[in-house]
Amino acid sequence: MYSQIAGTGAHLPEKIVTNGDLERMMDTTDAWIRDRTGIERRHIAADHETTVDLAEPAARRAIEAAGVRPEDIDCIVFATSTPDYVFPNCGVLLQQRLGCRPGGPAFSVEAACSGFLYALAVADKFVRTSDSSCALVVGAETFSRITDWSDRSTAILFADGAGAVVLRPAERPGILSTHLHADGSYKDMLYCPGGVSRDTPAFASEERRKAITMTGNEVFKVAVTSLGKVVDEALAASRLDRSAIDWLVPHQANIRIIQATARKLDLPMERVIVTVQDHGNTSAASVPLALDAGVRDGRIKRGDLLLLEAFGGGVTWGAALVRY
Ligand code: ACO
Repeated sequence: MYSQIAGTGAHLPEKIVTNGDLERMMDTTDAWIRDRTGIERRHIAADHETTVDLAEPAARRAIEAAGVRPEDIDCIVFATSTPDYVFPNCGVLLQQRLGCRPGGPAFSVEAACSGFLYALAVADKFVRTSDSSCALVVGAETFSRITDWSDRSTAILFADGAGAVVLRPAERPGILSTHLHADGSYKDMLYCPGGVSRDTPAFASEERRKAITMTGNEVFKVAVTSLGKVVDEALAASRLDRSAIDWLVPHQANIRIIQATARKLDLPMERVIVTVQDHGNTSAASVPLALDAGVRDGRIKRGDLLLLEAFGGGVTWGAALVRY
C-alpha cells in the first residue's frame, strides 16, 4: 500500500508588503533584498487573521481538488510553529472548522521551515498502514507575528500563508520515500524565544525578545550542505538518477539556496518551482504553496517525479520523492 497526493490547495492573506514598503520602514533597499534573497513581495496576515484562518481555505481547496468531502478526512497533520493556541492544536481546530468526521487523529507537528516535510512523512505512514484512508496535511504560518519589524536582517525574509494536500491510499507508488533529519547542536543558529515553559523570571532576560533570531550566513551554509546531501539520499533510496526528476519543489527561503540545490542536481531552473519572489519565506507553508502553484498553473502533471525539500530552525531538514 502506498499513499498518493490526491489534491493540493493554498491560501495567502490579501495584504501584500513589497520591498518598496520595507524601504520606507527600515534601512534597506529593494536591490539588496532582491540580490541577496530573490524576494520582491510577501503576504502578511491582517490583525484578525490567524494561522487556522489561513489554513481553512487552503484545506478546502485541497479537499475539492482531491474530489473528496470534509467528512471523508479521517486524519489531520498540521505543521506550524505559529499556532493559534497552546492547545487545542491547530489540527483539531481545523477538523471542527471543516466539519470533518470527529474521532480521527488531528495533531500538529513543529519543525520550523521543515514542518511540512515532517507532517507529510507522518501522514504517509498513517495511510500506508491503513490507519487513514484520507489524510489532510497542512503547512500554515503567521510568521509576521514572530518577526521583529525593527530587525532588517530578518524582517525582509518572513511572511504568512498556508498550503495543504490530501493523501489517499494507492496501489501504485505516490510518495516513494521521505527522509527527515535534525541536528540540535545548531539550535542557537536560528531560533525564536518566547516558549511557554520558559515564561518565568528565571529566563526573563533571554525570553524578552519573542522574535526570530538568526545568524543568516551560517544558516545559509548549513542549509546548502544539508540539502545537497538529502536530495542525493532521496534519489539513492529509489535507485533513481537525478535526470529522472521532473520538478524540484524546494522550501522558498532564498533564491541562492534554491539555485545551489538545483546545481547539485544538474537541474535547469526551468524545472524548479520558484515562488520566493512573491511569497517570501512562509516557513512550513512554503513547500505546499509552491507545489500548489506548480499544479494549478499546469507545469506539474500527473505521473511527474517531484523532489520536495526543506531546511529550517532546529536545525531540521528533509526531502520527499513523490510520483504525483
Ligand atoms: N538590507 C540591507 N543590508 C542588510 C540587510 C538588509 N535587509 N540585512 C543585513 N544587511 C547587511 C548586514 O548588516 C551586512 O552589513 P556589513 O557587511 O556592513 O556588516 C551585510 O548586509 C551582509 O550581511 P550578511 O548577513 O552576511 O548577508 P548575506 O549575504 O548572508 O544575506 C541572508 C543574509 C539573506 C539572511 C542570508 O544569509 C540567508 O538567506 N540565510 C539563510 C536564511 C534561511 O534560509 N533561513 C531558512 C530557515 S528559516 C526557518 O527555519 C524559520
